[in-house]
Amino acid sequence: MLLVVGCATGQVTGASVDAVDIDATVEAEEIISAGKVLYLANCATCHGVNLQGNPDWRSGTDKDGQRLPPPLNGTGHTWHHSREVLHQILKYGLKIYDEKYEGKMIGNENLTDKEIYSILEYIESVWPEELRTNYTKTYK
Ligand code: HEC
Repeated sequence: MLLVVGCATGQVTGASVDAVDIDATVEAEEIISAGKVLYLANCATCHGVNLQGNPDWRSGTDKDGQRLPPPLNGTGHTWHHSREVLHQILKYGLKIYDEKYEGKMIGNENLTDKEIYSILEYIESVWPEELRTNYTKTYK
């Protein structure tokens, strides 16, 4: 996954642009609850209903020999990636950063950029406050 960070520069499209698209009158709370619904429908089977991931994610593999889903709740490494990188991963899957990638994190091209934005808002909303503050300082 460090590879993902390393390759990130220059391949990004603007997740921040999506933020501007969102009707300014829509409360942040609504975005987060919409994100939660989308998360539960599209991500929870692997990453868990509480974003807890698989307990063996650091070293274990699944029956196909692929890596296990990491937690997205702040205890994994989601916060090592910029919003733009996360947006790309969610939309196109990890293959966008590694063409040889054959693992389970495939893309969600059926989701709109706004929907992906709301999922990321939801994920960040469960992180501890300190982590969120640092993340905002680093990436926003
Ligand atoms: C079929 C199972 C599966 C589904 C569904 C899935 N993921 Fe993943 N995801 C994984 C696995 C496995 C990894 C670890 C990738 C690897 O190392 O091969 C991963 C990696 C990630 C990463 C990168 C690691 C990190 O924390 O930065 C993010 C972010 C992520 N997933 C978010 C999501 C979101 C959000 C959704 C729903 C839109 C989703 N995933 C749907 C299995 C899944």
